Amino acid sequence: MSTSHSDILPSHITHDISNIRLNKPQLRICCIGAGYVGGPTCAIIASKCPNIQVTVVDISSERIAGWNSDALPIFEPGLDEIVRKIRNRNLFFSTDIEKSIQEADLIFISVHTPTKSYGFGTGRAADLRYVEEAARQIAHISKTDKIVVEKSTVPVKACESIKTILKTNKHRGVNYQVLSNPEFLAEGSAIHDLLAPDRVLIGGDETVEGSLAIKKLSWIYEHWVPKEKILTTNTWSSELSKLVANAFLAQRISSINTISAVCEATGASVSEVAKAVGLDSRIGNKFLNASIGFGGSCFQKDIYNLIYLAESLKLEPVAQYWLQVIKINDWQRERFAQMIVQNLFGSVSGKKIAIFGFAFKKDTADTRESSSIYVCRYLIDEGASLHIYDPKVSSDRIYLDLSEQTGSTERDLNDHVQIANEPYEAAKDSHAIVVCTEWDEFAKLDYELIYSTMQKPSFIFDGRLVLDHDHLMSASVSEVAKAVGLDSRIGNKFLNASIGFGGSCFQKDIYNLIYLAESLKLEPVAQYWLQVIKINDWQRERFAQMIVQNLFGSVSGKKIAIFGFAFKKDTADTRESSSIYVCRYLIDEGASLHIYDPKVSSDRIYLDLSEQTGSTERDLNDHVQIANEPYEAAKDSHAIVVCTEWDEFAKLDYELIYSTMQKPSFIFDGRLVLDHDHLMSIGFNVFCIGKKPPKNQFTNQSPL
Ligand code: NAI
Repeated sequence: MSTSHSDILPSHITHDISNIRLNKPQLRICCIGAGYVGGPTCAIIASKCPNIQVTVVDISSERIAGWNSDALPIFEPGLDEIVRKIRNRNLFFSTDIEKSIQEADLIFISVHTPTKSYGFGTGRAADLRYVEEAARQIAHISKTDKIVVEKSTVPVKACESIKTILKTNKHRGVNYQVLSNPEFLAEGSAIHDLLAPDRVLIGGDETVEGSLAIKKLSWIYEHWVPKEKILTTNTWSSELSKLVANAFLAQRISSINTISAVCEATGASVSEVAKAVGLDSRIGNKFLNASIGFGGSCFQKDIYNLIYLAESLKLEPVAQYWLQVIKINDWQRERFAQMIVQNLFGSVSGKKIAIFGFAFKKDTADTRESSSIYVCRYLIDEGASLHIYDPKVSSDRIYLDLSEQTGSTERDLNDHVQIANEPYEAAKDSHAIVVCTEWDEFAKLDYELIYSTMQKPSFIFDGRLVLDHDHLMSASVSEVAKAVGLDSRIGNKFLNASIGFGGSCFQKDIYNLIYLAESLKLEPVAQYWLQVIKINDWQRERFAQMIVQNLFGSVSGKKIAIFGFAFKKDTADTRESSSIYVCRYLIDEGASLHIYDPKVSSDRIYLDLSEQTGSTERDLNDHVQIANEPYEAAKDSHAIVVCTEWDEFAKLDYELIYSTMQKPSFIFDGRLVLDHDHLMSIGFNVFCIGKKPPKNQFTNQSPL
């Protein structure tokens, strides 16, 4: 690997490391799990906090031996240098789990949480047995108070389970605080991500002891992370945020991958489309590289985790929505393998094919869920003879992954798989080169030389869009260059939960894309985008149901004030406004609506609602009144429903409004724009999208 570590490490880190002198540590940390997360995270903590002693423990003596050797068990640019400087100063790797737990003030749990492969929730739920085992170990060993920090990615409420295990197994007099502190590092850039994180997230109990524990963990990060980047939340938000961040990242990849298929069929270029789309500051340019799909140990498992959560909560549309992200990923891999076979004249049987890259992405030797494994399996099934080259992945690892995936023994695999020590050797005499990982070195090879040694015609299938396709073709290398699709990563835009998107564009444009995909016979692409619309429809219906259920199961004959009819604030446009749909559901239930919008005319409202309900304006008159101002709309009503986020709605005199309403008085905030604490202090029952109503409200029905 040619990456220079001085590119990765800021100059001050070398200085920090050399200044470390460990006298009496101010704090002792034990980290259970010396993997991709535990190792690098603790290396950075130790390097940035000379006053803290950090011991990383693991049940695998082989892994610990690796960490104590010159060949670290994981590859990560910049990691070697840091570990070498501070190992055995204030950073230790050990198999003596008991001693390390005993001595520690704070314990990180960084064990793996794979998808369950047995029993209930197989293929979906996270397997928490390693986390549980770690919690039990802590409880059995500890004789002094500990802060236990859940760093592994876990389903919502896992901290509760850890707490229960600790409480029911603890030694007398020992107290625990359990925090959630999910890790957001990405393999391949772990050191950079740890040194300059977009945010550090800490979730804990909302008690005095809880906030003291949060402060202590925050103090550790404050050694190098600016305070404003350290975000504290309740435990559940913290746990869920990690799953959601990964789901959103994977969703972007699947989204652009669906477009790659459309591009291939229409002549558009996915790189050009991605560039044009990414320049929109609301979307941003990250995670828009079309490819053969995402891999790695996290995305798939965390989405399955979210799907499982949704299924357990009986939120089937949510589960279906996220399932599509995974389906597109699977489909993309298969589609790429099919593209190879089709272009090699319908058969790869007996043909030598060079596979460039086996890791799930560049700058890591990790192969978990790598798309390369799947592409190789499809080609092996077709009888190809693969010659695989990866700069960092060992041949043992490749054989192991492929034998697990194909169900063949290593001996059987030998007929189909050879490991090459360098790319020229892999490409020699081959019919095609297939790029599966975006290692930088693949762009720098001498393709004229490679071409001269290959079978003719020579093919390149660039599954990562990393090669210079013009050059490959222009060097009259007379080949067919085929490519898939000829957090700061997500950004903070368009993340407001609401009763759905409206306006004249989104829905129609997505339908447009769906229609295009259907005409091109790209059914999985059509299905994927249909889910986006379905979730929007479902969200509106769900909100209307929330209103009916909380108004004691019936709104028939009840006056309800609708605040806002435009599809968003500061416009009088009502096309596809969610308000129309919410009103229709409530009219169907027999409610009497009093609608107020600062800009939308009453004619427009009647027109939209009569179109939507199929009623004449006269019939609508029984159910709909237009108010000239919000106080009039709210007077004598049972509930206020906020459908548009107009600024003025936050500034109304809700004490006055409350005094004129029916009791109990309800507010359903579909845009999260009101001050809910204030409203509750007045006496309102407040319900909104994305938040469980507090228990002390008049009604104890929970939102959907
Ligand atoms: P990993 O598999 O590389 O490491 C886990 C380690 O824990 C293994 O070495 C295992 O031997 C050890 N272990 C398991 N039970 C133990 C016990 N009772 N006592 C001592 N050691 C024990 O896993 P990785 O990739 O580090 O992931 C850890 C967690 O962090 C997972 O929940 C993952 O989802 C999450 N995560 C992973 C990221 C990644 O890029 N790999 C990024 C962010 C979060």
